[in-house]
Order: sequence, then C-alpha cells, then structure tokens
Amino acid sequence: MPKSKLFEPFDLGPTRLANRAVMAPLTRSRATSEGVPKAMHVEYYRQRAGAGLIISEATNISPQGRGYAWTPGIFSDEQVSAWKKVTDAVRAEGGRIFLQLWHVGRISHPDLQLGGAAPVSASAVKPEGQAFTEAGFKPHETPRALEESELPGLVQDYVKATRNARAAGFDGVEVHSANGYLLDQFLRDGTNKREDRYGGSVENRMRFPLEVLDAVIEAWDNDHVGIRISPVTIMGGNNTETDKQGLFNAYVEEIAKRRPIYLHVIEGQTGGDRKQDGFDYEALRQRFDGAYMGNNDYDLDLATKQLETGEVDLICFGKPFISNPDLVTRLSLGAPLNDWDKDTFYGGDEKGYTDYPALTAEEKMRYVQAA
Ligand code: PHB
Repeated sequence: MPKSKLFEPFDLGPTRLANRAVMAPLTRSRATSEGVPKAMHVEYYRQRAGAGLIISEATNISPQGRGYAWTPGIFSDEQVSAWKKVTDAVRAEGGRIFLQLWHVGRISHPDLQLGGAAPVSASAVKPEGQAFTEAGFKPHETPRALEESELPGLVQDYVKATRNARAAGFDGVEVHSANGYLLDQFLRDGTNKREDRYGGSVENRMRFPLEVLDAVIEAWDNDHVGIRISPVTIMGGNNTETDKQGLFNAYVEEIAKRRPIYLHVIEGQTGGDRKQDGFDYEALRQRFDGAYMGNNDYDLDLATKQLETGEVDLICFGKPFISNPDLVTRLSLGAPLNDWDKDTFYGGDEKGYTDYPALTAEEKMRYVQAA
C-alpha cells in the first residue's frame, strides 16, 4: 500500500473523515424535472461512500437558482425526503456527505425559470455561451439586475436550503461561491456594475456573498459550513477582474473571520489546467486557519506531496470519482483506474453513472499480494 497521508483520518471539526480524499461536487443532470433525486442517486452516492467526504452535486436552493436541466434542488419536501435516502445510504457505508448550496444567477434561461422569468444577477450583463435546457442548448439571455430589496429574500432561500439539508441528514453544507455563479457574479467587477452598497469597491462586492455565508452559518453553525471559490476560473465570461489576487486575498480574510470549517479552492481553471496562471494560492492558505481543501487535477503523488508539506489538508478528486466508485481503495492498492466517458457526464440514466465497476474481492486480493 503506498504510504500517504491521503489514507489517514481527518477531523473536520466534529465530523471524522476516514481519509482525506474528497469527492468533488459534480453536476450529472439526472434528477427529475422537479429536481428530485431518484433511486439511482442513492446507489451512485452509496457506491462512492469510500471517499473521506462527498460533496453533493451542486443543488438548487430555490426554483430561481436553477440553471441546468435535471439538476436537483433542496427547497421542496419531496426533495428533502429523496436526499434523506441518499444520506442514509452514505452513512450506512461509513461515509460523510455535505450538500452544495447553488444559485446560478445569470447562468440560466427563461425556460428553466418559473413562468419563463428572466434569470437574475448582480447586474444586467449577458453571459457568453449557452444554457442546458430540457429542449437542448439555448443561448443565454440578458439577466435582470436584482433590486436591493430582493436580497434579504435570497439570503432566506439559502437559510431555508441549509435547514432542509440538515433535515435531510447531511453532515454539513458548502456555499458555492465559485465558477461564475450568483455569488461570484457579485464578487467580480465584470459582472457587478451596481451603484448601491453591493457594488463598486471590493468591500461592497463582497457584501452579498458574506451576508449569505453569515446567514448559512447562523442557520447551522461554523463547524458544518464550508465554502468554495475559484479565483481564476473563467466560466460564463466577464471574468475581467483586474486584481484577482487582491480581491481573493480580501475575500478569504473576511471568510476566515467567520470560521467556516473549510475553504475549498479550485486552483487554476475548473476542470482544466491547475496553477498555470501566476495566482498565489499560498497567500489564501496563509489567510485561513481552518481546513484547506485543494481541488483540480490532483493525482496520488501530488496529493501525497502537498499533504506532507501541509500545503493542503484535504484533496478533492472529480472526474476520477465519476469512473471509479472505489477510487480510494484503488489508489491505496496501486490498482489501475477506469477511464471516464465524457458522453455520459450530463443527463441520461444509469449508464455512465452507476455502472462503473469497483474492484472485485479477487482483484483486490491480487493487488494486496502484489504490494
Ligand atoms: C457544470 O455543470 O459543468 C458545472 C456545474 C457547477 C459548477 C461547475 C460546473 O460549479
């Protein structure tokens, strides 16, 4: 067995993780049109409970927060009951699972909104690219800028979603403040053109995301809340922030004061190259006392090295968890990994979802003996 801290337990506050490998939040677009997880979700997450921690796929906090067809929500009783089956199954296997709280903001389409409403954002800045609707891809449209008077209601949607996640048996929640979605749209000057208290200076642009973080922590507590950021990711365009380092140094200092249990950082381009951008992630690490979760294109060697130096506390794996339900076992035995099939990432049924094979008992024995 390769010696690595990756396979050692970690105490995420009150939540004991069996190892330091985290399953990244992964959108799979397989819920019902009403955003309800199905029986295959229970099986999918159960199969992956060998992760030290699972972070659920991004989950809509409200109908307005929805931006992709067949993504799950956490705002209706039916959704809460369905998620409860998932968390029960993960816990029965000794796993731990947080729910990721998602509002996409402008990265939506009227077809995905109640009554065909325009998507909302910090300002009326149209995203590049296309929305994934039930009828296929459709070009994004110009969002409606949120009124200041609407913001407390949005914060309440996060609070309700947090309470629902707790009721559904999750071990905690992750505030999605990354990848060009609503909170990121408030943070960055390319998408936030507001002239009120929520726009302009860095302090003002951080205000709404921090109000959300405060409210989510208040609704549960800081031991059960993490937050995810992606300083250099360009998704949806308009990531023209002139001083990304200054913005994120300031943001992480404010986040740190609130003491969430972890800071989850996508280093480099989401799903792409890591750290080839001159951004100083160590500066963020130094500003945050809690657990630092590193994400993007890790392999066992890099994970082992960075856990050893203390650069990171927890390591996220995304696509490898799609195709390897028993990823941690495979890594620990030095066994080969299954390749993933991109064509089945989004939408569809069990194919490419719950049918990736885990090692059989015989195969496992063979790798144990070879080690
Ligand atoms: C995606 O659907 O590709 C997606 C969703 C949420 C993210 C990033 C990517 O945060």
